[in-house]
Formats: sequence, C-alpha cells, structure tokens
Amino acid sequence: MRAGFRDSEHLVRLALLFGVGVLLFLGARAVLVPADFGELGHFRTGALDDNRRRPVVHAGRAACAECHDTAAALAGGAHAKVGCEACHGALAAHAADPDAAAPPELEAKGLCVRCHGFNPARPASHPQVDPEAHAEGASCTDCHEAHSPAA
Ligand code: HEC
Ligand code: HEC
Ligand code: HEC
Ligand code: HEC
Repeated sequence: MRAGFRDSEHLVRLALLFGVGVLLFLGARAVLVPADFGELGHFRTGALDDNRRRPVVHAGRAACAECHDTAAALAGGAHAKVGCEACHGALAAHAADPDAAAPPELEAKGLCVRCHGFNPARPASHPQVDPEAHAEGASCTDCHEAHSPAA
C-alpha cells in the first residue's frame, strides 16, 4: 500500500458507520412513511378520504332560513354577518331533524364575552368591554338584543 494510504483503516471504519446510518435511515423511512405519501404532492393521499369521512356538523345559515325567519332580525344590525352557528353551535343534526336534536341552551354571558371580552390582541375597532365593570353582574341579554345588539 502506498505510504499516503497507510492509515486508511479509520476512514474505512467511518465509511462503514456512515453506510450503517444510511441503511438505518432507509429502514426507518420504509416503516414510518405511509405507502401513499407523495402520490399527489407532499402529503398522504389517504388524508383526503379521511377528511371526507368526517361527519358534517355545521348546517350553514341557508339551512336555518328554511325554518326560522331569524335572519330578518339580524339584517342591518351589528350581528348581520355573524354566522348563526358561531353562537348557537354546530347544528347539522338539528337542521336535519329538529325533533331529534334540540339546540343547546345558550348562556349569554360566556357567549358574548367570547367575542367581546377585552383582549389586546383584537383590533381596536372591534367593540370590546371589560365584562365585570360593564355588566355589573347582569346578563348581557338583559340590556342587549342578542340578534341585533345596539351600542
Ligand atoms: C327543518 C326545520 C329546521 C331547521 C332547518 C332548523 N331548525 Fe331550529 N328549530 C326547528 C324547530 C321545529 C324548533 C323547535 C321550535 C320550538 O320549540 O319553538 C327549533 C328550535 C330552535 C332553537 C331553540 C328555540 C327556542 O325557543 O328554544 C334554536 C336556537 C334554533 N332552532 C336554531 C336553529 C339554527 C341556528 C338553525 C340552522 C343551523 C336551525 N335552527 C335550523 C326547526 C328547524
Ligand atoms: C351573536 C350570537 C347569535 C347569533 C349570530 C344568532 N343567534 Fe340566535 N340566539 C342567540 C341568543 C343568545 C338567543 C337567546 C335569546 C335571548 O336570550 O335573548 C338566541 C335565540 C334564538 C332563537 C330562539 C327564539 C328567538 O328568536 O329568540 C332562534 C330560533 C335563533 N336564535 C335562531 C338563530 C338563527 C337562525 C340565526 C342566524 C340567522 C341566529 N339565531 C343567530 C344568539 C345568536
Ligand atoms: C362570534 C362572535 C360574536 C359573538 C358570540 C357575539 N358578538 Fe356581538 N359583535 C360581533 C361582531 C363581529 C360585531 C360587529 C363589529 C363591527 O361592526 O365592527 C358585534 C357587535 C356587537 C355590538 C356593537 C353594536 C354596535 O352597534 O356597535 C354589541 C353591543 C354586541 N355585539 C353585543 C353582543 C352581545 C350582547 C352578545 C351575546 C348575546 C354578542 N355580541 C355576541 C361578534 C360577536
Ligand atoms: C345594564 C345594561 C347593560 C348590560 C347588562 C350590558 N351592557 Fe353592553 N352596553 C350597554 C350600553 C348602554 C352600551 C352603550 C354605551 C356604552 O358603550 O357603555 C353598551 C355597549 C356595549 C358594547 C359596545 C361597546 C363599544 O365600544 O362600542 C359591547 C360590545 C357590549 N356592550 C357588550 C356587552 C356584553 C358582552 C355584556 C355582558 C357581559 C353587556 N354588554 C352587558 C348596556 C349594557
């Protein structure tokens, strides 16, 4: 062996170690990455079917209008653009069969504070109050019409 490669033994050992690392990686990759990953892009193709199988829980405002004329109460008011189900909860089951699933009873204070409790992360243009000081223990709906509140 030429003088320059006299001490090559540790290089061979390093290369072997590297090779083992690559094999371990390929093995782990084969076990962990789902077979359909990458068929349509950088995600698992089966995820589309998984999502499609999830039950639909929201009915949408148009469905409510078939049986409730509440939209008229909201029209032109401050809540005109707030979705019915943003306040009433997901109601697909109720819309499909009102007798089988009644909407949950709403607790006004918790509901209103969720969107109107003061939070510095919200834009200043969004109406916000300090619930304790503002309501003084009364229910928000004692003074405000839930569907068409006025300030
Ligand atoms: C197929 C008709 C139908 C559809 C669609 C429907 N509802 Fe209803 N809803 C009813 C009936 C019937 C009642 C019971 C009426 C009663 O007891 O006064 C009811 C009751 C309610 C109540 C309780 C009323 C109360 O006085 O306690 C709320 C709130 C409500 N619906 C909201 C909604 C929302 C929001 C939607 C849309 C996601 C919706 N409903 C879709 C028929 C429907
Ligand atoms: C900002 C929250 C909010 C939105 C948006 C909202 N509701 Fe309500 N809704 C309430 C609250 C709170 C009550 C309970 C009434 C009360 O205590 O004054 C209520 C009551 C009702 C009732 C019972 C009867 C009545 O009229 O009081 C029905 C039906 C109803 N809502 C349907 C709807 C429909 C349909 C929409 C969408 C077009 C809608 N709501 C949008 C908060 C909301
Ligand atoms: C899902 C979020 C949401 C909930 C829940 C909600 N609001 Fe609102 N509210 C809004 C939005 C959005 C506006 C309109 C803000 C704007 O016009 O810039 C608004 C506006 C208002 C205003 C201002 C009216 C005006 O003319 O300036 C009042 C008062 C109000 N809401 C009271 C309530 C009360 C009381 C409740 C509980 C029954 C409630 N809100 C629940 C989103 C919500
Ligand atoms: C005792 C009656 C009363 C009660 C209870 C009450 N409000 Fe008000 N609210 C008012 C009046 C009056 C105004 C308009 C004057 C003002 O801004 O103080 C108002 C204004 C508002 C505004 C608009 C503020 C703005 O900057 O435009 C919001 C949002 C609001 N209230 C939410 C609530 C919430 C949420 C609750 C329940 C925690 C509640 N209110 C309880 C009387 C009340």
